Amino acid sequence: MNEEFAPPGVDTRTASPARIYDVFLGGKDNFAVDRAAAKVATDAGPDIPQAARENRAFLGRAVRFAIESGVRQFVDIGTGLPTQGNVHEVAQALDPSARVVYVDNDPIVLVHARALLPASATTAVIRGDVREPAGILKDAKLLELIDFDRPVAVLMLAVLHFAEDEQARAAIAAFRDVMAPGSLLALSHSTAEGQPERGRQAVGAWRDATARLRSRDRAEVEALFDGFELVEPGVVWVPQWRPDGDGEGTRWMYAGVARR
Ligand SMILES: C[S@@+](CC[C@H](N)C(=O)[O-])C[C@H]1O[C@@H](n2cnc3c(N)ncnc32)[C@H](O)[C@@H]1O
Repeated sequence: MNEEFAPPGVDTRTASPARIYDVFLGGKDNFAVDRAAAKVATDAGPDIPQAARENRAFLGRAVRFAIESGVRQFVDIGTGLPTQGNVHEVAQALDPSARVVYVDNDPIVLVHARALLPASATTAVIRGDVREPAGILKDAKLLELIDFDRPVAVLMLAVLHFAEDEQARAAIAAFRDVMAPGSLLALSHSTAEGQPERGRQAVGAWRDATARLRSRDRAEVEALFDGFELVEPGVVWVPQWRPDGDGEGTRWMYAGVARR
């Protein structure tokens, strides 16, 4: 996207996580500063765009698993710019009555999501910060669509690596406290485990962005599921979580899904 067409309120001089991810996914909603940042990551890890695509595929499998588990409500925190296989598309293809609330703190995501995603009786987009879960949980639009007395799937995919340890724990605890039995928590998370030097170089992409990225190892990601019961196969490399194919792929992110 050309800087002069940036929506009002969007800072085109500072890279943003949503737009860097959009570069990895081959999208058009990014600026020169985001492409330069993404290059720092892909110079260190040429397979990072593949990892982003694998993460989107995990999103699809996790949503399908939730529907198959009887869950019909979704809160997708750290939505990202609309792309293919958005949560409501996957969920509502399987059950048109499924309800989805998208939550993000980046103004460009909110502008594009509101323009492209149908504002409907079953889908909403709200501004919210995962580091301030109380604000999300009392949002009037969210509460119109989501009934926490019934099972809900809370998705935090590729977002908690933008939060400090205590913030990530507090966000999950705040949702855990209101989630009915049978609810699901799905996470994916960046890691540098097994390739610390390349990981150290890659995180440079987010050093001057609106949020920095921190890697966590498998044990740290497992610990985020405190108070939940992980479903099989536990916390694994993203491509290995209940794969449709052979589960081969990159080693940049962990994923897991757990029951309340
Ligand atoms: C890497 S993208 C992931 C998008 C999508 N969840 C996925 O996995 O395909 C990270 C998203 O999280 C959002 N984000 C980053 N920090 C956030 C925060 N503190 N609160 C809410 N959203 C945040 C970014 O704006 C971006 O849209």
